[in-house]
Amino acid sequence: MYQAQATWKRAGFFGKQYWGKGYATEAASAAIKHTFANFDVTEIVAITYRNNWTSRKVMEKLGFKHNPLRDFDHPKLPRTSKMLPHVLYSFKNGG
Ligand SMILES: CC(C)(COP(=O)(O)OP(=O)(O)OC[C@H]1O[C@@H](n2cnc3c(N)ncnc32)[C@H](O)[C@@H]1OP(=O)(O)O)[C@@H](O)C(=O)NCCC(=O)NCCS
Repeated sequence: MYQAQATWKRAGFFGKQYWGKGYATEAASAAIKHTFANFDVTEIVAITYRNNWTSRKVMEKLGFKHNPLRDFDHPKLPRTSKMLPHVLYSFKNGG
């Protein structure tokens, strides 16, 4: 019925020394389980800029699937920004 957007943007808040230890994956995994268990949500989507390979790896490890047809240019970024092209991944309840 509803669509939720997952974000681990703030995970960077913890500092670079904590990256690569599985924290973002663990936190997002718990958030996904909590969302499907407690809300009438059929799909969770996650976005990042195209070249953010670390973030994309986290999405893929979690089971998110990339759907190129839903990729988009971020409407709030200048056309010249390297972060303009965004990718969209989705995770559907029950696969
Ligand atoms: C993205 C971010 C939140 C990931 O957090 P994290 O706790 O380091 O993530 P995890 O440790 O759970 O997983 C990272 C995975 O990416 C992999 N990875 C790291 N750099 C990579 C790269 N350049 N290309 C591909 N994979 C990469 C790691 O090896 C790891 O995978 P593995 O467990 O199979 O080895 C963190 O890097 C960050 O805060 N980055 C800056 C801000 C940002 O980009 N936020 C996201 C905006 S959408």
